[in-house]
Amino acid sequence: MKISKLFFVLLTVSTLFLIYSFVMEKQQTATAKSTRELYLQYCATCHGENLDRFAARQWVYGNSLKDVSSTIKNGRPPIGMPGYAKVMNDEQIAAMANYMIAEVAKVPANEPSPFQVKDVVKSAGFSFVLKEVAGENLSIPWGLAFLPNGDMLVTEKSGKLYQVSKGVMTNIEGLPKITVKGQGGLMEVLVHPKFNTNQLIYISYADGESSNQVNTSIAKAELRNGKLLNLKKIVHALPNSNSGVHFGCRMFFDKNGYLFFSIGERGTKMNAQDLTNYCGKIHRIFDDGMIPADNPFVKTPGAIASIWSYGHRNPQGLWYDKKADVIWENEHGPKGGDELNIIKKGKNYGWPVITFGVDYDGTIISPDTAKVGMEQPVFYWIPSIGPSSLTRVTSPIYKGWQGDFLSGSLSFDCLDRLIMKGNKVVGREKLLPKIGRVRNVVEAPDGYIYVAVEKSGKVYKIVPSIN
Ligand code: HEC
Repeated sequence: MKISKLFFVLLTVSTLFLIYSFVMEKQQTATAKSTRELYLQYCATCHGENLDRFAARQWVYGNSLKDVSSTIKNGRPPIGMPGYAKVMNDEQIAAMANYMIAEVAKVPANEPSPFQVKDVVKSAGFSFVLKEVAGENLSIPWGLAFLPNGDMLVTEKSGKLYQVSKGVMTNIEGLPKITVKGQGGLMEVLVHPKFNTNQLIYISYADGESSNQVNTSIAKAELRNGKLLNLKKIVHALPNSNSGVHFGCRMFFDKNGYLFFSIGERGTKMNAQDLTNYCGKIHRIFDDGMIPADNPFVKTPGAIASIWSYGHRNPQGLWYDKKADVIWENEHGPKGGDELNIIKKGKNYGWPVITFGVDYDGTIISPDTAKVGMEQPVFYWIPSIGPSSLTRVTSPIYKGWQGDFLSGSLSFDCLDRLIMKGNKVVGREKLLPKIGRVRNVVEAPDGYIYVAVEKSGKVYKIVPSIN
């Protein structure tokens, strides 16, 4: 009797334990699965599907459960990390933090790119290969420009400028003090149209009194024998801020010699609608920084006189059509809603009053996608590609691509081709999939297209192959 009673108790206890562990396991898989799902929904666009952007991670704010939870909950504006308190509860945040800590430790430091540079790519009736033209340990090659003699200038976001002459890369000295913070650092480089007589180049970079008070500056200098001489800052965008995002800043000269440049809204959305600051705007100045008298807001009280257009989020692609005298721009939207625009004098492009995207945590920024007095994009990308740059193919070297736009994609690690019929987008192609974040794409004066790629840290030339 006693033994059978004990047996009965044991049986009950073990059954209960089995049920308990079964339920717990189910619950755990449910949390693990939903954490993974939440990750794919909210985080993967910036951090990569398999957290690959965290390779060799140096944590900025620490990797304890407490630190990482706080990063996810409140965000870290200085490094450009948005917060998720509105859409995840503390339990989900803690589960996400544990997931991040465990997964980041497993990310291989140097995963080889699945795209082989020597692969022959077929597109639009022709084949091409990539030819490496520059780059040894360039962490983030950002700006590309070409001198009249064919030499290439390439910036590295970490604050270096190089000249590449017949395959040999040399460091250019004499750069100003550059703040490297979040998305900011040394960005664009531009060659003056009369370089042969004045030796002038222009650079855009993050700059400020302290690393907590920064915004974009533009400086001009003479490039002589590998050195920048007579460097002069001609623009400093205001207000400074602690934010590490949306510095812009692409530049170009139009056919009349005006200098255009883009500044992002620096993470403060309403900056873009406020004409009394530089942020979220495209600007137009003379090559020495002076303001043309026919700029659209020179007579508007309080307005920054260099503003050409406004209502932009973070414009990082500018392409100027010299023949038609038309400016094309692409800009980073929020989650969804990256835009391709034609930029016109004095116009408002709507951010954040109208947008095709939502905030990173999924909350609605605006219910409106259109409003009277605000411009519509020519095209918008959903999901976002993270457009870093923009060029249009005019060169006869790439017959099947003529008239098409190419944008670097930071989110999909590829080159995004918009197939155009006149000024209408009629199709799309993802080129060089998984090559790495494409930071810049330029059709150079030699007619070839050059792409700057992160991770491999290299600049490639697209060369049609002879079949
Ligand atoms: C809009 C892009 C963006 C999205 C979306 C995003 N992050 Fe981030 N996050 C960043 C950036 C930028 C950094 C800084 C990267 C760096 O320093 O290399 C960062 C850094 C982090 C860090 C490291 C902080 C440290 O101390 O170094 C964690 C953890 C993190 N993100 C978690 C998440 C999680 C979890 C999600 C989704 C719920 C998410 N992020 C969504 C942009 C994003």
